[in-house]
Amino acid sequence: MFPSKRRAAAVIAAGVLVSGLALAGGVQAQERAQDEPSTLAASLREAAAANGKFVGTAINNGLLGNSTYANIASSQFDSVTAENAMKWDSTEPSRGSFNYGGGDQLVDFAQANDQQVYGHTLVWHNQLPSWVSNGGFNASTLTSIMNNHITNVVNHFENDVEYWDVVNEVFNEDGTMRGSVFQNTIGTSFVGTAFRTADAADPDAKLCINDYNIETDNAKSDGLYNLVSSLLSQGVPIDCVGFQSHLVLDQNTSSFKSNMQRFADLGLELIITELDIRISTPADSSELQRQAQQYAGITQMCLEVSACSGITVWGISDRDSWVPGTFPGEGAACLYDDNYQPKPAYSAMVTAFGGDPGDPGDPGDPDPPTGCTASYVANRWNNGSVVELRVTTPQALSGWQITFALPAGTIVGSWNAEISQSGTSVTARNTQHNGTVAANGTVSFGFQTNSGATYSTPVVSLNGTQCTTA
Ligand code: G3I
Repeated sequence: MFPSKRRAAAVIAAGVLVSGLALAGGVQAQERAQDEPSTLAASLREAAAANGKFVGTAINNGLLGNSTYANIASSQFDSVTAENAMKWDSTEPSRGSFNYGGGDQLVDFAQANDQQVYGHTLVWHNQLPSWVSNGGFNASTLTSIMNNHITNVVNHFENDVEYWDVVNEVFNEDGTMRGSVFQNTIGTSFVGTAFRTADAADPDAKLCINDYNIETDNAKSDGLYNLVSSLLSQGVPIDCVGFQSHLVLDQNTSSFKSNMQRFADLGLELIITELDIRISTPADSSELQRQAQQYAGITQMCLEVSACSGITVWGISDRDSWVPGTFPGEGAACLYDDNYQPKPAYSAMVTAFGGDPGDPGDPGDPDPPTGCTASYVANRWNNGSVVELRVTTPQALSGWQITFALPAGTIVGSWNAEISQSGTSVTARNTQHNGTVAANGTVSFGFQTNSGATYSTPVVSLNGTQCTTA
């Protein structure tokens, strides 16, 4: 659909997992969900990939050491966005001094888990170090500072980042340009300059303009539409629009689809980049159900607009979300609750993608892969260990992904699984030959490490669901 730039390898890889399920669209997918649930994708990323869409999350690097967080991040999402680690205050905290530690960590995590990386963000008035915002630079100097920042960051992540939010939140609510230091010093031309510079640094990356409150047809989205149309007519290399989609429960988004479509008609790719739906807390069950319907509606809309290539949610669980800190008294905005348990919104999103999240309360629908049991047997010596992991599943599987934390050592060899390790997070996937497992069957694989250190038996998850570990 958008052949000029590279297509995310991770998305294609995830699609292979469910290639037998390749579906033409979400409506068809939903019809199948009622008839053939046992063969449908069980994780969010599998369900999205079956429709040719990606599904991502913002990642807080500081939480990757939490194996529950890391397991959900790797098993449910095939795209990751740095919540903060690639912003200007992290990457160039002082002039000409670049720091890529957080971004590199995220890239490593993504590559270990067959995920694409969505880059956020190059030019933004927020999380901008004061040496830029208060530097008192003239237009020429600030332009070269901006270009130098973009060139260095994009060059560093070339081949690792599929998309960049080149400019972020450049509009006021009335559709005029926000008075950032870039706008006030350089003028609106800074936007086109930023895109041309990013394109020169990585011609294969997809370059997006990203904003909030542009989901519906309103003055702000009109301002964006006019700017983007003008930039395109000048030959500015802009590929995509990011609709942040920080929504409120019951918000009327009825014009979201037609608004997206007018940008699609300009030939642009569209991404829902920061989806969350906040509720006054504590949220009751009726509110959580309405929130679930809203998540499903956004998902369905992305399925219906072919130019919409994916949806990223802004954070995994309610406890990690930015919302309560910014909107006191509001929260519960994410797919997982404070205890990392999936909420109705999670099931609704999987279902909207045509997958089967499982519903133990419905006798017509088989259980999700809960009730799995794992045995983790480690034989250790002074500088090495061999681990055999066996996981028994009550449900039949057509592809599996097993995640756990390895507190000590590096995996140096494995059998009966494709294994990747990022820090202490390990993901084991079926090989070409052992993905199909009958109900009550057992997955068995093993690996060797270079450490003989002892540690307590880790928590093991099968396709994103925690197992009982013996
Ligand atoms: O890193 C410092 C730490 O050193 C310090 O001790 C601490 C004290 O407050 O602050 C830490 O920085 C915080 C940073 O997140 C990293 O955790 C900032 O205070 C906090 O303001 C910042 O919030 C981020 C916010 O952007 C800043 O505008 C949120 O995590 C992040 O979710 C949010 O994301 C934005 C998108 O980038 C753009 N669209 C809107 C979205 C939500 O606001």
